[in-house]
Amino acid sequence: MVSLRQVNIVLMNIYKVLPDLTNERQMRLWYQGINKQWSAEDIDWKKAMPNIKKSKLDDLAKVLTPVLTGEQSALYSVTGLIPVLGHRSEVEGQFFLTTWAVDEARHTELFTRYFHRLNREPLSIRRFPSGYLFQSRIISKDPVEWLTGVLVSETLAQIVSHEFRELDFDPVLSEICAGILDDEARHLGFNHVYMCDRFKEIYEKDGVEKAETFAAHLEKRRLYVCEGVAPILDALKDELVSIGMDREKIIYEVDNITKRRLEKSILAGRKATEGEKIKDEDMIVAVGE
Ligand SMILES: [Fe+2]
Ligand SMILES: [Fe+2]
Repeated sequence: MVSLRQVNIVLMNIYKVLPDLTNERQMRLWYQGINKQWSAEDIDWKKAMPNIKKSKLDDLAKVLTPVLTGEQSALYSVTGLIPVLGHRSEVEGQFFLTTWAVDEARHTELFTRYFHRLNREPLSIRRFPSGYLFQSRIISKDPVEWLTGVLVSETLAQIVSHEFRELDFDPVLSEICAGILDDEARHLGFNHVYMCDRFKEIYEKDGVEKAETFAAHLEKRRLYVCEGVAPILDALKDELVSIGMDREKIIYEVDNITKRRLEKSILAGRKATEGEKIKDEDMIVAVGE
């Protein structure tokens, strides 16, 4: 039986009667998250489908399978992270995550409706285990570990959306991807700000040695999650060639960009302990740089 004392401890960990809401950068992202909402209803679904060969549309649907499952998994992942931050009384972060969850729900709806437009089914789980296994690498009870995994999946989503926008098969798909790229920039912005704040705290409380050991641990975790990307693309080798996407380039970019992003977040945390402020815009590692 759970004692009243245990209940109190849990409640005190989760709820603050009066949250302080002093984390300005996270609060700014929260307002952006609210103000920049849009919906699948804003897309002009009636736009004519360009004349694309039937077999190419089949391949496009296959390549979009991990995109759809990725969005759906992101929704589970982000909603799962909300109570994790709750246990740490990180209310500003929780606020932002509520908008992030809405974003991922919207992305899931967009690609679901896009499959209807293509009049095709995604690949089944049995034919596509790598997509689901990749997502299982991301989850952790520690928010920083979790966000290191999410950094990989979000960067992958960003690279793929970027590629689709460049290929411009269908104005509807390009419009969806342009909207998603704006949302992803916010998610990656939060990832950076949160990691930077945590590392500042770790450097200050636990010292340089512990902070660096933890940074090395996260780098290993990043590599572990990145290793899950290649099997997804391997399962779609021919389809990627057919629609004009370069498997090697995607793998290289995911690894290279996530490595630099993680390093920059940790560096920004260390610099903050020395009173040095690095502008958030100087922290950006853009896709296609
Ligand atoms: Fe998404
Ligand atoms: Fe996202």
